[in-house]
Amino acid sequence: MPKIIACANQKGGVGKTTTASIISDGLSRMKIRTLMVDLDPQAHLSLSFGRKKAPGLFRLVCLDEPLDRVKENIKPYLDLISSDKQTEKVKRMITLSDYREAILADLLHDTSYDVIVLDLAPSLDILHINGLIASDWVLIPTRLDALALDGVKEIIGTMHEISQSSHAFSGYNILPTFFDRTTRETLLQFQELVQFFGHYVWAPIPQDTHVRESAAYGKTMWDYSPDSPAMVGYFEKNKRIGGYRNILDLVLEVVNDK
Ligand SMILES: Nc1ncnc2c1ncn2[C@@H]1O[C@H](COP(=O)(O)OP(=O)(O)O)[C@@H](O)[C@H]1O
Ligand SMILES: [Mg+2]
Repeated sequence: MPKIIACANQKGGVGKTTTASIISDGLSRMKIRTLMVDLDPQAHLSLSFGRKKAPGLFRLVCLDEPLDRVKENIKPYLDLISSDKQTEKVKRMITLSDYREAILADLLHDTSYDVIVLDLAPSLDILHINGLIASDWVLIPTRLDALALDGVKEIIGTMHEISQSSHAFSGYNILPTFFDRTTRETLLQFQELVQFFGHYVWAPIPQDTHVRESAAYGKTMWDYSPDSPAMVGYFEKNKRIGGYRNILDLVLEVVNDK
């Protein structure tokens, strides 16, 4: 069975799609068979790999087409279930069906991938719940602004409700993004997160204009700017802190159940 990972936060613009794409591409480069599922009608995950919006999720869930026919191959070891505005219809269909909260889990659990990465939309609808119920483990990217703690508490509250009624998660972690160590506000918010969630908070991803550029060029950071600050973090006493390369190592530990 694949390990299913969700990038989730009910807030938009916090780095969910960026994180999903960089992790997925990184896993595939290690020859780990990875499927990405774009659950956002805005389809930014599909676009960030230079693909067009397409009704992949709609065909899988609503038209019952087999996953093998619906998936798009992006590169060796990396496939994608695309999204577009028809994903809105998926929500309506799921709402009307029986077992409505576990439809995505049923479709994804018996596949031959090693890892499945879900990019959730910033919403709290039935598709969001389906994404969480399908996941073993959740990564919660968050900006370090005044509402960060509140947003993270919300999603963890939702996970708590789910785990009480129907589904056990193996865990979660919080990934601070857009880290700017020259700004007092960022540092204070980071400290507050750590005070509240302790070791669940991973080392932060620096704010880095290369990230926005890479998305615009339809490339992930592994191709566009593999050694820029968002990827390598920063060095303190010769030790690398944060950055997506570090995050990939931590995700690998989760995938390997360490
Ligand atoms: N560390 C970063 N530094 C600078 N820009 C970033 C960083 N992470 C993401 N971005 C940019 O911020 C925007 C929102 O990120 P995105 O991953 O799409 O967020 P979400 O999926 O949570 O809405 C995108 O344009 C993305 O390229
Ligand atoms: Mg997104």
